Amino acid sequence: MIPFAYKNNRLFCEETDLTAVAGQYGTPAYVYSKAGIVHNFQKIDQAFAAHPHLVCYALKANANPVILKMMAELGAGADVVSGGELALALKAGFPAQRIVYASVGKTDAEIRYAIGSNVLAINIESREELQVTARIAAEMGAVAPIAIRINPDIDIEGHPYLTTGKSANKFGIEMKEARDCYLWAAGQKSIKIAGVHCHVGSMIKKADPYVKMAETLAAFVSDLQAQGIHFEHVDIGGGLGVDYTRVLGEKETPWFMEPEDIAEKVIPVIKQTGCEILFEPGRSIIGPNGLLLSQVLFRKETKGKKFIIVDAAMNDLIRPSLYSAYHTVLPLQKSDAATEQVDVVGAICESGDFLAKDRDLPVMQRGDHLAVMTAGAYGYTLSSNYNERPRAVEVLVDGDSHRIIREREKAAF
Ligand code: LLP
Repeated sequence: MIPFAYKNNRLFCEETDLTAVAGQYGTPAYVYSKAGIVHNFQKIDQAFAAHPHLVCYALKANANPVILKMMAELGAGADVVSGGELALALKAGFPAQRIVYASVGKTDAEIRYAIGSNVLAINIESREELQVTARIAAEMGAVAPIAIRINPDIDIEGHPYLTTGKSANKFGIEMKEARDCYLWAAGQKSIKIAGVHCHVGSMIKKADPYVKMAETLAAFVSDLQAQGIHFEHVDIGGGLGVDYTRVLGEKETPWFMEPEDIAEKVIPVIKQTGCEILFEPGRSIIGPNGLLLSQVLFRKETKGKKFIIVDAAMNDLIRPSLYSAYHTVLPLQKSDAATEQVDVVGAICESGDFLAKDRDLPVMQRGDHLAVMTAGAYGYTLSSNYNERPRAVEVLVDGDSHRIIREREKAAF
């Protein structure tokens, strides 16, 4: 299900006319569909129903407190990557025993906070971090629950910035060293082995990397179980890819593959270990259920190039600039006007500040509105105040009602 559709040539989110939303709250504005978020979470959760599991929503995709509270109430766990995200997750109502904490660079204060909060697992990313965690837990008179993040050298064949499971990446510990780390950890009084962790990348488009990862992890765990080490969970990370060209229609599915395609291949493999499965999706839950509303400020033409200059920019949505990411752009009012090829750009003083390049869009004029689709994930969380621009307002749509879930930052003038 995708909650956006044209009705009478006007773009709607659920039963809400987005032109009215833009008029009421101004632009740029992030708009999210409650029904879409709930649907995607439940679809992913149910896909794993045949096996004990926990879907830990990755906060980095979108950490709006109202959305987090919704996810916690749906029974999701949380995947956090900093003390700040851990604090947000706890405040939103995620029970600590449903929170996993990964990061290659935790500070001592963050490690202390995670241990003191009694999280489900601290995902360890280096031998040194394991030793420091054991020491800090001992000093606290506590026991730190850990899962070592394995780097299995699996390629997802995606954007180099979104690939995390190759040896050349900074993430996780290579298999042989990880095995030594577990054997060492098993002898530490201040460490409890909770599970094993892996995340090979984001925007995964095929089930293969998950299957390879599951097989690798199952073999790894079985070997250590034979050494007497007990594991409670196998965490397969997040990464389910979203098709940025599928943006409209209730019958459309936003994913390259259904979550069931992953679950039915992964469950039988992990089942042999007797472990619970943890899955950490972010983008696939929230990405297709959010968009960025913007208004045309000016039109401009240079030799051979037409620009539509809008009031959103790379400080609001950096994905096109940072990863050359494609986001579909749609006018809020569909028309029969002729189309033209344009770049949709923001006001920031960099040529890398664009939202879309060389797109055929209906001719748009100053004051018209457009939507940058599939912007729910890694949109607001990656936004900044670059060029002293205030961050956008965030709005949640629920049927035909809508409300602000984070105020627009105040302009300094
Ligand atoms: N678990 C871990 C350990 C991760 O590092 C990530 C994402 C996830 C789960 C969630 O992955 P997802 O299901 O959302 O793909 N800013 C980039 C994406 C960076 C992803 C970082 N890690 C983008 O805008 O495409």
